[in-house]
Amino acid sequence: MPSHSRRDFLKHSAAATFAASAIGAGGARAFAAQPEGEKPMPTPTKPAKVEVERRKFGKTDMTVAILGFGSAEIGYERTDQAVVDGILNAALDQGLNVVDTAECYIDAEEQIGRAISHRRKEFYLFTKCGHVRPDGSRGDDWSKAGTLASIERSLVRCKTDVLDLIQLHSCSLDTLKKGECIEALEEAKKQGKVRYIGYSGDSQAAKWAIESGKFDALQTSINIADQECVELTLPLAQEKNMGVVAKRPIANAAWRYDTKPDNGYHVEYWNRLQALKYPFATGDKRQDTGPDGAAGTALRFSAFLPGVHVCIVGTSRPERWRQNAELLRAGPLSAETMKMIRDRWKEAAKPDWTGQT
Ligand SMILES: NC(=O)c1ccc[n+]([C@@H]2O[C@H](COP(=O)([O-])OP(=O)(O)OC[C@H]3O[C@@H](n4cnc5c(N)ncnc54)[C@H](OP(=O)(O)O)[C@@H]3O)[C@@H](O)[C@H]2O)c1
Repeated sequence: MPSHSRRDFLKHSAAATFAASAIGAGGARAFAAQPEGEKPMPTPTKPAKVEVERRKFGKTDMTVAILGFGSAEIGYERTDQAVVDGILNAALDQGLNVVDTAECYIDAEEQIGRAISHRRKEFYLFTKCGHVRPDGSRGDDWSKAGTLASIERSLVRCKTDVLDLIQLHSCSLDTLKKGECIEALEEAKKQGKVRYIGYSGDSQAAKWAIESGKFDALQTSINIADQECVELTLPLAQEKNMGVVAKRPIANAAWRYDTKPDNGYHVEYWNRLQALKYPFATGDKRQDTGPDGAAGTALRFSAFLPGVHVCIVGTSRPERWRQNAELLRAGPLSAETMKMIRDRWKEAAKPDWTGQT
């Protein structure tokens, strides 16, 4: 299924089709006044807002729309800047207010800075640190100085004076326990460079991060093919009133692939879905784009789990944010569907089906 050729096609056609797709959903076009006899020139208006639910993000002062934007895909896929400009500006117009990025998603921080730093007051900017050395090369550096340097670099790349949330980017439990990187986040907070601090990761490290009481927020894998968090970390995070970001919230849409995906990053969830055999993610239901189809059910599962505040779906397609926001407007899944998804997981999950970083 999605292949390099599809990606290439998207990258080059998406900028051209952006105006039509983003505006087409609302059907709104304004026509500028033209001299008599001349054809009116269509002037695109802002796409209409989608009324998505908003939630208070734990004990922070942020109120977040339940659908955010995850930028790993635009970074790793090296999406054209014009497409990124279109995706992000349209999504902001439509109700997006959380943009998540990281120091190591290739150029994603810079793509975001170029696209929307002029609208900085309209969104919360979450980024991560730890996978960049002080000389700018890629590699882990969890020292206090290295972590602080990573934050400074993100401020410049994102073209901002302050980050709303800085997250340790999936460092190990041992690194967390060592504590230097946490001290760095606390220092950055004191200096006013970041407003809140978080841990982005899974399993035992995420549990330790929550229990430490040092973090305002947790970003963790939460989806139909990654449910370890449902019992291990979500209830604890709720108890501590932490902001919770669901990463990989649509399970990489791994049901899209008829056969094992070429994209290695999508293989683990594809394998799990083969074993889970959810009725909504097999056969024709995979193509159902309504709220009870594969994407709708997967996204609604993640977004309405108790304790979750925002789902940061990744995409390089201009029309996606709106499509997914519309799916979420259907609200929580029925109790029966929720139970079926949880029961299948409990029956099929293998001991090594831990949270995927
Ligand atoms: N360790 C960490 O901190 C960590 C690790 C992983 C991810 N993250 C964060 O989480 C974000 C999201 O993760 P992700 O992008 O890996 O996974 P994801 O959001 O679960 O999946 C993204 C994929 O789903 C597809 N998709 C989105 N909506 C769809 C729909 N309605 N129908 C069909 N396909 C759809 C997208 O394809 P299209 O391009 O075709 O829309 C994209 O390939 C990342 O961008 C990043 O910010 C953090």
